[in-house]
Amino acid sequence: MTTKHQLELTQVGIDFPTPKGPFTALRDVNLRINKGEFISLIGHSGCGKSTVLNIVAGLHQATTGGVILDNQEVNEPGPERAVVFQNHSLLPWLTAYKNVELAVKQTRNGRTKKEIKEWVEHNLELVHMSHAADKLPSEISGGMKQRVGIARALAMEPKVLLMDEPFGALDALTRAHLQDSVMEIHAELGNTVIMITHDVDEAVLLSDRIVMMTNGPAATIGEILSIELERPRNRIELADNAQYNHYRHEVLKFLYEKQRKVESVAAHRQKQSAVPKLAELKSDIA
Ligand SMILES: Nc1ncnc2c1ncn2[C@@H]1O[C@H](COP(=O)(O)OP(=O)(O)OP(=O)(O)O)[C@@H](O)[C@H]1O
Ligand SMILES: [Mg+2]
Repeated sequence: MTTKHQLELTQVGIDFPTPKGPFTALRDVNLRINKGEFISLIGHSGCGKSTVLNIVAGLHQATTGGVILDNQEVNEPGPERAVVFQNHSLLPWLTAYKNVELAVKQTRNGRTKKEIKEWVEHNLELVHMSHAADKLPSEISGGMKQRVGIARALAMEPKVLLMDEPFGALDALTRAHLQDSVMEIHAELGNTVIMITHDVDEAVLLSDRIVMMTNGPAATIGEILSIELERPRNRIELADNAQYNHYRHEVLKFLYEKQRKVESVAAHRQKQSAVPKLAELKSDIA
């Protein structure tokens, strides 16, 4: 029997036009994702993680290959692929409630006024934000804004939830709370999730599989690690779990040994000395 995947990235590559000619950011990215899977994308800064996510979101068009979601080719953004960005992109003139309501109304799935209200309230409840429904983004904290961003995405009932470093700008405690909320929501709703992160613990704690990307240009998938830890997962218990620590180690090894991205001190010095000192520039101007 063949299992049908919900989301398929096949030979995805992209060239960005630049003044110096095309820049190949990604090449031959192949990934099959099952319904309900939680996938993390991890890799060094600039390797192409957001580009992969944006191609799945339909915000960028692949130069080669393509993305198929439930037998349909992805060519443009759509409500079945909701995106949560790192810098919470709420509309500042709308309250938390109205921000979520707007997304619900845009999906136009024939809800009555009463049903819309209940659905917005339900989604704010999921992220524990009911108490601040009538506050403007400027009146709530970064973590709370991020919660509303997640509620807004969930309210669209996406088949796939795409999150680009959703907790990157948050302090460690807020981040831990939100990770727990996301795990609960994922357990309850069973959506497919693709999340970009730089945080190795976050990747191991949340994911079914961690997709590790090589450095660019022409970045691709280096390794995929399946995380076979029982759910629900508890961060405190896992801290002493040998299997958890093994997974952590595997990701760290990939990032810091196999895809090392550190300039040697000598190379760095050489570059520094190539930059004219401010005093020299000043004397040039004079
Ligand atoms: N529109 C564009 N035009 C030209 N080059 C681009 C464009 N978008 C991205 N790139 C290049 O593609 C590469 C991948 O960028 P991308 O933003 O996907 O990286 P990333 O892995 O998300 O990095 P970070 O972790 O810093 O967010 C980078 O070298 C970037 O400079
Ligand atoms: Mg990025």
